[in-house]
Order: sequence, then C-alpha cells, then structure tokens
Amino acid sequence: MPRPLTVLGIESSCDDTAAAVLRDGRVLSNVVAGQEVHARWGGVVPELASRAHQEHIVPTVQEAIRQAGIAIADIDAVAFTQGPGLIGALLVGACYARSFAQALGKPLVAVDHIKAHVLAHFIRDTEERVPPRFPFLNLTVSGGHTQLVLVRDALDMEVIGTTLDDAAGEAFDKGAKVLGLPYPGGPLIDRHAREGDPARYPLPVPDVAGHDMSFSGVKTAFANLIRKGELHDAGFAARELPHLCASLQAHIVRILLGKLEHAARERGITEIGLSGGVSANSRLRAEAQAMAMRNGWRLHLPPFAYCTDNAAMIAMAGDLLYRAGRTAGLDVVPVARF
Ligand code: KG4
Ligand code: ZN
Repeated sequence: MPRPLTVLGIESSCDDTAAAVLRDGRVLSNVVAGQEVHARWGGVVPELASRAHQEHIVPTVQEAIRQAGIAIADIDAVAFTQGPGLIGALLVGACYARSFAQALGKPLVAVDHIKAHVLAHFIRDTEERVPPRFPFLNLTVSGGHTQLVLVRDALDMEVIGTTLDDAAGEAFDKGAKVLGLPYPGGPLIDRHAREGDPARYPLPVPDVAGHDMSFSGVKTAFANLIRKGELHDAGFAARELPHLCASLQAHIVRILLGKLEHAARERGITEIGLSGGVSANSRLRAEAQAMAMRNGWRLHLPPFAYCTDNAAMIAMAGDLLYRAGRTAGLDVVPVARF
C-alpha cells in the first residue's frame, strides 16, 4: 500500500486565519481563527485583517498540528492560498508557508482559493460523503465570488458564468448593512428570515444574458424599499425585519438557482454542487434540494465547516495538486486577482 499523504493547509485570503491537516483527504484537524475586529466597521478592513493574520498564524498552525496528533516531520507538503484575496492578508499566509516549507525541506503547493471552494466536495469526513462524479456543475457562492463552474476534472475547471458586479455574499452583507446588522450579515439575514414571509417584499430580478448574474441592483432596490417604508412609518425596518430579511434572501436565492437550473439544463448535467460561504444559507440549501428532486439531480452540499472559508479545502486542493506534480518554487508570490 502507498504511504499516506499528509498535507498542511494554510488559508489567509480574507478575514479568517485557518490551518488544517488532511491525510489522504481525511480531516485530521481544521482550525479557524475568525477576526471580530471587522464587525463594527461594517466590512473587512484590509489593514486590520493583515495585522490579525500576523497575530493568529503561528498559534493557528500550531493548534492544527496539535489537534491532528502528528509530528511536524509527518507533513509531506505545505499548501497555502496564493489568491485571490486581500494582498496584505495573502502575504502573511504565503510568507509563513514558504518559511515553513523551506525550514523543513517540504514541498510547497500554491492554491487558488476559488477552485479550493469547489474541491471542498472531495474532503473525506467521517460521514463518508460521496464526492461528485465528473463532469459536474458547481455554483460557487461566497463573499468575494459568484461563479458557475463546469468541473471536468479536479484540476480542469471552466467558469461558464459569473457575477458582472457584486458577489452574492456581498449582496447579503450590503443588505444587512442597510438594516443596521453587523458584518458579516449573511448568517444574520438567514436567522431573521426564518420568522419572515419571503413573498412580502418582492424585488426585481435583473435581466442578465446567458449564465452571468448581477447583484449590484439588489442593494439599491432594497435600500429604496426601506427608505420609502421609513418615510411613512418610522420604525418600519425594525418592525418588518424578519419579512425584509426573508424577502432579500428569497430574491438572492431565486437569482442564483434560476441561473443554476438554466445552465444545468442547457449542458445536460445532473451532477450538481454548491460551495462557498453563501452555500451555508438555509434557504439556498433547501431550495436547491427541492430543485434537485424536480430535476433528478444528484446534489452535493459540503458540511458548513467546509462552506465558509477554511483551510481543509486548501489542504484538499494541495493534496490533488501535489499528486499531479504541481508544486511551487520557494519564490512563489501571492496574487490578489488571477
Ligand atoms: O466563503 P466565505 O467564507 O469567504 C469568501 O471567500 O468570501 O464567504 C463569506 C460570505 C459572506 O458574505 C457571508 O455573509 C456569507 O458568506 N454567508 C452567508 C451565510 N453564511 C455565510 N450568507 C447567507 N447565509 C448564510 N447562512
Ligand atoms: Zn472563500
């Protein structure tokens, strides 16, 4: 039997410092240090994110190795997020990973964060999830990106549709900001929406050709709705909060799933995946499951821990890249945008 492959993954593209250890795709540890510092600013402050990564990176990696119950010498490869993301944040993870790999004489693997969100489907957790079969169609939805991806193979992906402006997660977060909710607003919208009527405040669905999407109009339409409501009735937003959250959420989900269903039918694909932070959304998951039943899809939804930013997905991508011989030199640098 071949020797198992143990990969350390490091993620620092935005506001979470994360480290994980995977052995042959199985999670031995998955540690995430969040950054509360951004909540009161209504969004991620790049300078503060870089500083927090500097503080968190050493203890986070140490904790991941400790929880995995391995010795540093057991690590076969070091995978890190090369981009896209905030350059100051990426630099912290890249410098750390390079130094770690050099000091220990281990190979280094540079990972594309958005592709890693797709590869989260291949993480082997205790429930023995069945990974998607190729080719599959993936809807990658997070705070920074919204893509429809045709995945021919783990390392062969084609983006067939993308947002023309804001990401779906941004639409959630901006809508939440208008409602006075702290950053990141997506999970809070999700929670308040549970008691609300999703049909109470319909919002116009943008008319975008092909598989592309647009979310920049959502915030404006939503802000106007609230402004008008408050004009006649001070306290409108606070009183109607669950209905407003439910309506906004239903609107974003409608745009996403409308595009997904259209693309799946056009390509004749029934193997479907959702991933990225927004795929933690309860309505998106429920509606996608209902859509899967109607269309005879096999739907793949990673557990929450692998939807939002995490290092297990970086280690998973690192595992696949390493096996394909795609290692990086020690002079590899982070890239804010590919
Ligand atoms: O993948 P992720 O952790 O980071 C990026 O790569 O951007 O995604 C973060 C985004 C944020 O916009 C956050 O509000 C959103 O995912 N999000 C949610 C939920 N959980 C996280 N949006 C809606 N409903 C949720 N339950
Ligand atoms: Zn992400």
